[in-house]
Amino acid sequence: MKIEPFLLERWMTRHETHVKYDIAESGILPLSAQDLLNFEPPETRAATLESLLQLPLGYSEARGTVALRDALAATYTQVTAEQMLVTTGAIEANYLLFHELLEPGDHVIAPYPAYQQLYSVPKAIGCEVSLWSVGPETSYQYDVDHLETMITPKTKLIVVNTPHNPTGAMLSPEAAARVYALAERVGAWVLGDEAYRWLAVPNGAPFARPMIEHGPRGISVGTLSKPYGLPGLRIGWMAAPPEIIQRCWGLRDYITLSPGKLNDALACLALRHHDRIVARNHDIIQTNLAVAQHWIDARRDYLSWTAPRGGLLALLKYDLPVASLELADTLALDHSVMLAPGSAFGYEHHLRLGVGQRPDIFAAGLTEAGRCFDAIRAR
Ligand SMILES: Cc1ncc(COP(=O)(O)O)c(C=O)c1O
Repeated sequence: MKIEPFLLERWMTRHETHVKYDIAESGILPLSAQDLLNFEPPETRAATLESLLQLPLGYSEARGTVALRDALAATYTQVTAEQMLVTTGAIEANYLLFHELLEPGDHVIAPYPAYQQLYSVPKAIGCEVSLWSVGPETSYQYDVDHLETMITPKTKLIVVNTPHNPTGAMLSPEAAARVYALAERVGAWVLGDEAYRWLAVPNGAPFARPMIEHGPRGISVGTLSKPYGLPGLRIGWMAAPPEIIQRCWGLRDYITLSPGKLNDALACLALRHHDRIVARNHDIIQTNLAVAQHWIDARRDYLSWTAPRGGLLALLKYDLPVASLELADTLALDHSVMLAPGSAFGYEHHLRLGVGQRPDIFAAGLTEAGRCFDAIRAR
């Protein structure tokens, strides 16, 4: 399979181990195994640690342990462990689904800009991919009227990502129901990439029901990477009809076989403390959003944004005489700040900001980015 380079990943790997202020980061501040243990009540903490240390590190259950699949299924309405496949991050779930649902020549509709996997993998499979704008053209919003005009009898799959990377757009509950109904009418699947599930923003938009809950053509993909701050566990999943789970499992036998056993156990531990983790995230997002808004307001003559309505990400639009890749490289190399170049998403004069970083690092990163912008304006 010939596939185009994943531009953002290539750019991130150039800088992410060197910079002091990574405010391009797409997730929330990561948790450690110790943080997860500390969520346990003091009286059971030692026993929980012992059970993790004693866990035989053999191969794990291929679909994810029943305990983990039960816990994940319980986060949806009327979904069972038979409808769950635990994968190596949401990225593997998406990849398996694209390969099982699609044939060369199929018509796919995917958001744009987007997490590049969502359109580049269908293209590499040989599908005809129509890009559904969530960019500046539609004020960084989903426009379902526009989607309706793009659907054809050949449409096999509609991909949605809500909350959306990189704009923070949200599909409203009504819009999500309408997307599902439009897909069902032509017998298409809807893949809901819900990697940013549970990441609500103060005064943000309401969350739609996960796509699996809309009906038999709906599939939900989730992950512990973003909403739990556990990307290093590489635990993601799909919630799908049992027949799709069986097919994706069959393909997965040739790729990663099963989740890591310790990761599966740590994921079970994390899920027991969902409410604590969500509350912690809320505090980080609230603090950083207020700081970001203040920082942007002070630079209104050349910076603007539509604040995220959900999730952690937004695009900053800037009016400076420098292309986004050059600006992002200058920020990283000369100021130790990472803000992702809009060009990696196909949009010039934008930078992607993530509000999940540790608040002191986030604030210092913005201050330093401001210095860089001032220097460019003074030239
Ligand atoms: C929209 C979206 N989907 C999927 C992923 C993959 O996440 P992971 O494989 O870490 O679960 C990402 C990561 O940035 C993402 O932004």
